[in-house]
Amino acid sequence: MSITFNTESKIFYLDGKNITYAFFINEYGYAEHLYFGKQIGHDDIRSMRSSGAGSFIATIPGIDLNTKGIKSYQHFPSELSFFGTGDYREPAVMLTHSNGDRLVELLYDSYEILSEKPAIGGIPSMRGGETLVVHLKDKINGFACDLYYTVYDDCSVLARRAVYKNFTDNTVMLDRAYSFSFSLPRNDYDVISLYGAWAKERHVERAPMRHGVTSIDSKRTTSSATLNPFMAIVDNTTTEEFGNAYGISLIYSSSYVLKAEGTSGGRTLVTGGINDFDFRWKLCKGEMFETPEVILAYSCDGLGGMSRELHDAMRNYLINPRYVGKSRPIVINNWEATYFNFDNDKLKAIAKAVEGTGIDTFVLDDGWFGKRDSDKSGLGDWFVNEGKLQGGLKEIISYVNSLGMKFGLWFEPEMVSEDSELFRAHPDYAIGTSDRPRCYGRNQYMLDLTREDVRDHIVDAVNKVLRENNIQYVKWDYNRNVTESYSLGRESDRQAEFSHRYALGVYDLCERIVNSNPDIFFEGCSGGGARFDPAMLYYFPQIWTSDDTDAEERTFIQYGTSLAYPLSTMSCHVSIVPNHQTGRITSIETRADIAHLGATGYELDTSDYSDEDKEATCKQVEEYKQIETLILNGDLYRTEDPHTSNFFGFMVVSKDKSEAILTAYRRMGSVNNEVKYFKVSGLDESKTYSVTGYDATFKGSTLMNVGLPAAFKKGDFMTLRYLFKEVL
Ligand code: GLA
Repeated sequence: MSITFNTESKIFYLDGKNITYAFFINEYGYAEHLYFGKQIGHDDIRSMRSSGAGSFIATIPGIDLNTKGIKSYQHFPSELSFFGTGDYREPAVMLTHSNGDRLVELLYDSYEILSEKPAIGGIPSMRGGETLVVHLKDKINGFACDLYYTVYDDCSVLARRAVYKNFTDNTVMLDRAYSFSFSLPRNDYDVISLYGAWAKERHVERAPMRHGVTSIDSKRTTSSATLNPFMAIVDNTTTEEFGNAYGISLIYSSSYVLKAEGTSGGRTLVTGGINDFDFRWKLCKGEMFETPEVILAYSCDGLGGMSRELHDAMRNYLINPRYVGKSRPIVINNWEATYFNFDNDKLKAIAKAVEGTGIDTFVLDDGWFGKRDSDKSGLGDWFVNEGKLQGGLKEIISYVNSLGMKFGLWFEPEMVSEDSELFRAHPDYAIGTSDRPRCYGRNQYMLDLTREDVRDHIVDAVNKVLRENNIQYVKWDYNRNVTESYSLGRESDRQAEFSHRYALGVYDLCERIVNSNPDIFFEGCSGGGARFDPAMLYYFPQIWTSDDTDAEERTFIQYGTSLAYPLSTMSCHVSIVPNHQTGRITSIETRADIAHLGATGYELDTSDYSDEDKEATCKQVEEYKQIETLILNGDLYRTEDPHTSNFFGFMVVSKDKSEAILTAYRRMGSVNNEVKYFKVSGLDESKTYSVTGYDATFKGSTLMNVGLPAAFKKGDFMTLRYLFKEVL
């Protein structure tokens, strides 16, 4: 890892594990992008710039029109595009000065290289070391911007963000404040996004980009299940294993936008950050505005390579080191077993049935508090529902503890029910205007986290329960999206700050609840995986992946999620059949094999467990324990894509390539099938391995070139699991 500046050519070279990112300060003081991709030498590549041609260009003020070469901002590949001075592509920053003037021209002022990457005030970001800061400034009005760049020697990613500084003499309205822009040399890429909905999160969509802007976004004040804050830009020939792949992952949990603009000059401008839809930030004189960080990953080894770089980056630098690579709780969760309908006896029976199976944590889901017998009431009243749970939480917790298990509890801290003591006492705590009825979402309102007094109330109420009870696990849910974005008491010219302020409110809550309870393990959730983003992973090392627990559907959801996120972040449960979402019946082995490709757990009614059921669970948990380290730390190779075939295959290989697992899945069975060879990937060609089901040993090269003929049992939705172990 190194950051260098050539004082003569004014080129900054940033080298990460296998990448180089280069830009320079050009003859006009503009931070001009040169290159991002596979590592290259530190040659003077300015001579390889292509000059833009064409009419209808606006020349840079004051330049000699006889100058050879580029004369317009429009033609520079940009490190930070701005508005109003002849660049007609997507600006990264737009603002309005107090006199109505909207111009800004951000040119180079100075740079510094910091040995430690500074944290962003109030916003989660990657940890890291050496960081380049480039100071840009508008020489006329003093408005300034700092660009931050961090590279890593063990993963091929770059972390970037921008900080806008109002050094003008007046208040400035920020109309757009993206985190970054950079340029890619062609405009015929494919763009891959992760789209979805409730119970259908992060499905993969790949489409060719065109001239003009291809964008993905959220307007929901959350990162959303609709489109994840992730975009891959790949050569149109790139496959899972080969070709250039760029991954763009925004560390943010509110409305965002990511854009790839195919320009007439033949390039692609990539930019994004906080969504400027419904955004306007009042930046007073002397204030600065921090933007969320983006992770830019590159691999020449196709989508698989790109994912592995992102996985390493998140595991090594984003997720709390307390949990990285560490065993996770294996839970039994009562939600699908009982929904709201439970009492002490039922919960005890569910817990008792899995005593001694290796399941180590009982999680009491929604319905334990306030007057919560359905989703119509009780949110916000974080005290026990004694009608349901006589003896309070203490009774069920001590019972669970007596079985040798830990206890976990569900909260939805950001919400309030109209029928709750909290809402009756503080109706103004709910988001909304005073003259208009509020929309319901899942029969509930949202609390105004942009207000400090509201956050104080939530922190006190949740921390009280956590302090007074022996709780080792919390599931933090979030089950609706904002409407009537308005904060009572905030000035009218600051209401369009709401969406970003909500994110800052969530992060503040997490700092004060999650980080102030270091002995409690927190899992994120949002009606399934509707807030599955890198910022949430900074606080929650794993997130409930989807309310859709059907094994077949999960192959798609977990496949898509793995494009951007490591397996260790995906909470996956073995659930009941017929499946509550799809009605499908799959075998317990299949359900376990798919749920074991993440942070596993159980979510079914064990109170009627037979001895055989218990034994099967014991065996599964034991098997999971054998592969847990691999799953949490290994390199993922997606060997079969369920979108394009009847099969799904995930192979996970340990970093030292001494062991691996291949989970192979066949959707539909049929008679007299052609043989299906599953691809084996990621092993060391020269190592010798034993393989489940074979008496002989094989070289890695043999396994990876021959593959494994999968002998599925009769039936639909079948899995096979192969373990590979190095034989010394
Ligand atoms: C959401 C979660 C579920 C469960 C319910 C409880 O839908 O995704 O797992 O916790 O809320 O209301």
